[in-house]
Order: sequence, then structure tokens, then C-alpha cells
Amino acid sequence: MRELIEKIVEEGEVLSEHVLKVDRFLNHQVDPVLMKRIGETFAKTFQNESVTKVLTLESSGISPALMTAYALRVPLLIARKRKSLTLQNDLYTAKVYSFTKQEEIEISVSRSLLHEDDHVVIIDDFLANGQAALGLTEIVKQANAKVAGIGIVIEKAFQDGGTLLRNRGFRVVSLARIASLQGGKVQFAEEVVCP
Ligand code: G4P
Repeated sequence: MRELIEKIVEEGEVLSEHVLKVDRFLNHQVDPVLMKRIGETFAKTFQNESVTKVLTLESSGISPALMTAYALRVPLLIARKRKSLTLQNDLYTAKVYSFTKQEEIEISVSRSLLHEDDHVVIIDDFLANGQAALGLTEIVKQANAKVAGIGIVIEKAFQDGGTLLRNRGFRVVSLARIASLQGGKVQFAEEVVCP
């Protein structure tokens, strides 16, 4: 997606050969115009999948996921990383291990909000090792619902997540694919053709 790639070039900061900081438009401050375009692009991508729900994991996935849900006119469901006062029982849960943070968290979604007739698009901001997206697919599976596709804003193609998910048969669409962050430079992989 050209606007996203331009934004990464203009405002992204390479912190190391593994980490790209995008706090100016995605992870901390959010560019709502870009998010709207991202949402519309994902909505077009998955328009023939009879999507009934968009699912993301708090917190940075919420902005692109909300705009996708809005464009598709379906609800957004946000998997929680912590149990909250109102989210305690009757949950679908999955364990997600973060290689980056070297910690395991349990993510959860209320059983009352995901059903076997749901066609779910999973949206997240980054795809690195794929553990967060995989955990979300497990939650969809527990509900006997269908994963209609996975939409990622920025995929780090030099890490294993994309291969892991695609090898499991999921349709993964990433709007920007980064081949390398070596030498302090963002090198993009081939552009993915999106409608
Ligand atoms: P994985 O889910 O693909 O396996 O990723 P990993 O555990 O390695 O990522 C842990 C967190 O770091 C995730 O956010 C992920 O989005 C983020 N992340 C991974 N690589 C990058 C990167 O290069 N740049 C940035 N900016 N973030 C990256 P999180 O802990 O869930 O945070 P948040 O969603 O609450 O903000």
C-alpha cells in the first residue's frame, strides 16, 4: 500500500536490525486518515468472505482493526491481555508467547461474543513471529468459527510469522512487507497487490 510505505519511509525509525519504531502514526500517536485508508483496503481485500466480525488483540491492533470493522460494517472484537472487572468467566483463552518480550500471556475473549456461524477477519499492527495472530486463530477455532483471513499492517518478512501462518493455510495479507532493517535502512519486500 503506497501511502503506508511512504509513511514508513518518512516517519519510521529503525531502532535495530529487528525493530522498526512507528510511534508517530501507528503505535503511540495514530494517523486517523491513514488508518481509514488501511481499514478500507482491508475491507476491500476481504469483501467476498462474508465477514461477520473483526478480531484484534489490544492495544496497537485496535486502530486499524476498528477502521476495518467500520468499513465492513461489522463489530470489532478486542481480545484482552488481562482479565478485567467485567471479563472474568466464560472465556475462550489462548496462550501467546512473545519471543521479543520473552514472556507468555493469556489472551481472552468472551464466549458470548464469538459463535460458530462467525466469519472472522483477524487484524494486527505487526507480524513478527506470528504468535499473537496464531493465538487469535486458536480462539476462533475454540468457538468453531471460521478465520476468513488475517490482515497485517506491517509484516517483518525476515521473521517467521508469515511463513508459520501461511503454512497453516491462513490467507495472510500484509500492507507493507519489510525484507530487512539492516544498516539502519528499511528494505521492502515485493509489493503486495491489494485492490
Ligand atoms: P508476534 O506476536 O508476531 O510473535 O510478535 P512479538 O511477540 O515478537 O511482538 C511483541 C510485541 O512487539 C507486539 O506488540 C508486536 O506488535 C510488537 N512488535 C514486534 N515487532 C515490532 C517492531 O519491529 N516494531 C514495533 N513497533 N512493534 C513490534 P504488543 O506487545 O502486543 O504491544 P501493543 O499492541 O500492546 O502495543
